[in-house]
Amino acid sequence: MIKVGLIGTGGISRNHQAAWLKLKDAEPQAEIIGVADLVAERAQEAATRLGISRWTTNYLELLDWADVTAVDICTTENTHAQIAMDAAMRGKHILVEKPLTTTLSDADHLLEVVSKYGVSLMPAHTHRFYDYSRSAKNTIDSGEIGTPIYLRYCSGGGFWRQDWSGNRISPVETGGNVLTNGVHIADLANWWLGAKPISVYAQGRNLTSSHLEMYDYFIMTIKYDNNATAVIEMSRANMPRSNSFMSINVLGTEGEITSGTEHNSQRLHGDDGFKFVGPDYQHGFDREIRAFANALEHQEPPPVTGAAARLAVAMCLAAERSIQTGEVIILGKDF
Ligand SMILES: NC(=O)c1ccc[n+]([C@@H]2O[C@H](COP(=O)([O-])OP(=O)(O)OC[C@H]3O[C@@H](n4cnc5c(N)ncnc54)[C@H](O)[C@@H]3O)[C@@H](O)[C@H]2O)c1
Repeated sequence: MIKVGLIGTGGISRNHQAAWLKLKDAEPQAEIIGVADLVAERAQEAATRLGISRWTTNYLELLDWADVTAVDICTTENTHAQIAMDAAMRGKHILVEKPLTTTLSDADHLLEVVSKYGVSLMPAHTHRFYDYSRSAKNTIDSGEIGTPIYLRYCSGGGFWRQDWSGNRISPVETGGNVLTNGVHIADLANWWLGAKPISVYAQGRNLTSSHLEMYDYFIMTIKYDNNATAVIEMSRANMPRSNSFMSINVLGTEGEITSGTEHNSQRLHGDDGFKFVGPDYQHGFDREIRAFANALEHQEPPPVTGAAARLAVAMCLAAERSIQTGEVIILGKDF
């Protein structure tokens, strides 16, 4: 049985908890045996929800619990690197929320430590585990659309609060909107297109977030080494408020995949923000966490690699730089 220490019991951690609970009586068997959060009430509440007694406000204490074999890191973005390195150095396998890190030097350092201590690392790129993304990937891999050469992924609408007052919306802590949200789709584009990104050009606006220097809306154009192009458009706090929508096209030399809102989760918008309707949002987390547990159980490499997550971080940092300079950023050795 895989014994997990969960670090970070805020928003997304609840989806992870729900997924781990499903594995308790399933295959492979896994369970959370302790939790850590800086906020004592949050850690305690999660422990109660999980039916366990061990909780702490100090994740290093959790890492010292000898029976913990793996950690699931659901903390704020800029804490991932240090926590993951501390876990690796204690021989714990690691599932870490996206983005892998908020800087490339942190990513490089983390990957070195993971390799040195020989633990498994799986960055939690949830979009690889949704039905819509897997069916598109299967279709692409089957050759049915020929070589994919153009991807347009538009994810619009505003589900963050209009004043950007959410507890984790801070460019310093999250690395910025382009990184923390763009990284999902940058990774997905690489996975779907199966080519190497060579340059990034991006534009952004920060109408609703000017006080934070965050880009509420951005568009990122990625060029690949096989001449494929990906255009990623995203917003998270549109003004005026609008319904959220997704529109996806993958154009190949012999066919096209279209996908979007009607194929994915549905979102219900109100004055208090939004909520997902239906079970669809959770199924990506369930599959992601089962994939991590499966890899550990069978001592196989996890399906998402540290190198892939590092590349997605690099692309989003390049996009940030492009927005600021107005230039096309070549993904050379600095990236
Ligand atoms: N996969 C997805 O679809 C998805 C969606 C939302 C968020 N996320 C990612 O999940 C992570 C967490 O985001 P969130 O929205 O849950 O944020 P959150 O602020 O709701 O939760 C983060 C929690 O981590 C705790 N924390 C921070 N530093 C800590 C430390 N050093 N030790 C212990 N606890 C610590 C905080 O107290 C908080 O409870 C981020 O990396 C975010 O990008 C992923």
